[in-house]
Amino acid sequence: MTATTSTPTDFDVRRIRADFPLLARRVHGKPLVYLDNANTSQKPLAVIEAMNTHYREHNANVSRAVHQLGEEATAAYEGTRDKLARFINADSRDELILTSGTTQSTNLVAYSYALPRLQAGDTILTSVMEHHANIVPWQLVAARSGATVKAAPISERGELIVEQYIDLLTPEVKLACVTHVSNVLGTVNPVREIAKACRKRGIPLLVDGSQAVPHRPVDVQALGCDFYAFTGHKMLAPTGTGALWAKAEHLEAMPPFFGGGEMIREVRFSATTFAAPPHKFEAGTPNIAGFVGMSAAIDYYQSLGFEAIQAWEQQLLAYATERLHEIPGLRIIGEAAEKEPVISFLIDGAQATDLATLLDLEGVAVRSGHHCAHPLMQFYGVPATLRASLAFYNTLEEMDAFVAALLKVRRLLR
Ligand code: ALA
Repeated sequence: MTATTSTPTDFDVRRIRADFPLLARRVHGKPLVYLDNANTSQKPLAVIEAMNTHYREHNANVSRAVHQLGEEATAAYEGTRDKLARFINADSRDELILTSGTTQSTNLVAYSYALPRLQAGDTILTSVMEHHANIVPWQLVAARSGATVKAAPISERGELIVEQYIDLLTPEVKLACVTHVSNVLGTVNPVREIAKACRKRGIPLLVDGSQAVPHRPVDVQALGCDFYAFTGHKMLAPTGTGALWAKAEHLEAMPPFFGGGEMIREVRFSATTFAAPPHKFEAGTPNIAGFVGMSAAIDYYQSLGFEAIQAWEQQLLAYATERLHEIPGLRIIGEAAEKEPVISFLIDGAQATDLATLLDLEGVAVRSGHHCAHPLMQFYGVPATLRASLAFYNTLEEMDAFVAALLKVRRLLR
C-alpha cells in the first residue's frame, strides 16, 4: 500500500506546509522528511516573524519601565499569559507561571511545593513511562528529605496499569505524577480517571503535558489535576518557553524558588516580601521574545483547530503504522489503544543509531536513543529505539518516503 494523495479535502496540508519555511529544505541532497517533532517542532513563519517584529519594533524589558516600548513589551508578554490561560482553560491567568519549559516547571514544583512538605517515609509516585523531567526532580527532593520515589507499572503494550497506579496512592504519597502522553510510546494516559482517584485521597496530581499540548485541546479544569507542566518548543513556539499551571491555592502556599528582580514586593535586609503569583515565581528578565512567538504559535493552532489537526494526525499515525508493519523484522514499541502520532520501533539485526544515521543520509530525520526515558528502555530490555514522531504538517507521501528509506538502509546493514 502506498499513498496516492496526501490532501484530505478538509485539511490542506500543502498550504499548511508553505507556512513552515524549514520544511522546504533539502538534507544531504534529499527533500527533508522531518519526523522528530516530539523532540522539537518546526516553527511557522508567523512565529518567526512575530519574534523578529518584537526585536525590530518593540524590544524593551517588561514590568519595569513606563516608557512606550516597555509598555508594549509588557502588554505582549502578559498577553501571552492571557492567551495561554484560555488555551488550557485555566480558571485565572494568575495560575500560569511562564517558565523555560517543562523541566523548569517540574523543578519548581519539586523545590517549592514538594520539598517543604516531604518527610522521611513519604513517597512521590510517578510511572515507568515518564520522561526524566518527571522523575529526576522528584529523586533530588526525595534524597534531601528521606522520601522515596515509586514508579507505577505499565503493560507490555505500553499502557499504564491504572488499577495499580491507583493502588499505589497510599497515605504516604504526597505528590502523584504522570505524563499526559508518553514521548516514546505515544500512549495517552487516562488523566481524568487518575485525577479523580487522587482527589478522593487528597493527593495532588502533577501532569506532564509536553507531548499532549501539540496534539489535543487541553482543559486543565476538566482534567481535574493540580499542576500541569508543558513546553513551548514542541508546540510551534520558540525554545526556552513553557509554563506551569497550578491551582491558585498551591501557588499561594508555595514559597518562591528563584529570587531576584520582578518577584518581590519590597526588599529589606531585615525581611523581603514577595509579589503575588504568578510574578512571585518569575524572577529576572523572562524570555520576552520567546513568549511573543508563543502567542503566535497559539494563534496558529487555533486557526487550524484541534479537531482538524487530530483527524489528520490520526490518519497519518494509522497509515504510518500500517506501512511499518510491512517491514520484516520490525517491532513497534508502544501499541496502546489511544495514541498520539509517535511510533517507536526496532528492526531485528540493526542498531537504532546506525539506522537513524543512514536515514539522515536519505533526508529522513528521526530520533534514536533512550529518548530521556531510561526506565522505560529498561522495562523493554533495550538500550534504544528509533522514533518517528509526526506533526500535522507531515504528509502521507512522507510516510511512504520514510518506509522506502527504511527498507533501503535496512538492506545496507545486512
Ligand atoms: N526532547 C525529548 C524527546 O525527544 C523529550 O522526546
